[in-house]
Amino acid sequence: EAVASAGQDLTGRRVLISAGGTREPLDPVRFLGNRSSGKQGVALVQAALARGASVTLIAANLEVAVPTSVTTILVSSAVEMHEAMTLAADSAEVVIMAAAVADYRPKTVQLGKIKKADAGDTLTLELVKNPDILAGLAASRKPGQLIIGFAAETETDADRLLALGRDKISRKGCDFLVVNRVGHTSGATEGFGTERNTVTVLDRHGVIVNEASGSKMSVANCILDLIR
Ligand code: CTP
Ligand code: CA
Repeated sequence: EAVASAGQDLTGRRVLISAGGTREPLDPVRFLGNRSSGKQGVALVQAALARGASVTLIAANLEVAVPTSVTTILVSSAVEMHEAMTLAADSAEVVIMAAAVADYRPKTVQLGKIKKADAGDTLTLELVKNPDILAGLAASRKPGQLIIGFAAETETDADRLLALGRDKISRKGCDFLVVNRVGHTSGATEGFGTERNTVTVLDRHGVIVNEASGSKMSVANCILDLIR
């Protein structure tokens, strides 16, 4: 019997990962979206595969290529991601919610293109809240299932960023929260679309259990180290 190599510590573990950013349709040609590229989520997929895990990816509008060896389910909107994640979570030991999910969607989707002539000089959109996928998965988790969420924050003050993270994990009910500063600051972009990432990982008590800065691959491996 071969001993699992150090690089194969997740052999046979069933890991479910969401990645990318949802698009919320307005009409047949338009959507509300966000700047998530899916790079950190896909890095998690690659790292988990390299460590021997059996990975399922729920992918929303990725801007990066996906390893061919991963089972991938394509979705676009938050509602579609909700359905796919809820189904797939049934057979997952570890769930990582790396996708940027739209908090709201247009209340109605127009069957035909919205026309300027109908809307006039201003156009008001009515939005309704999307289901909170992570909170739902955490609330209905199976015994022993590990659930990891992300927090995308634009807060620049380190203490206030941490406070937001602590507040968020208590609301989400997940085991770990990967707190990630995102957004455009002084002309540079952080988090979204970049090759590197800086994260702080909190446990459910709000205690910092890990900090990582570097390539999205190295951050991914640091997150996978949370799997016991
Ligand atoms: N998330 C989710 N379903 C949603 C919104 C977010 O599952 N409808 C997940 C994200 O995938 C992420 C975590 O919840 O893992 C935190 O997302 P974030 O946008 O940072 O937090 P929100 O709870 O949406 O709060 P806010 O955007 O107001 O900061
Ligand atoms: Ca949000």
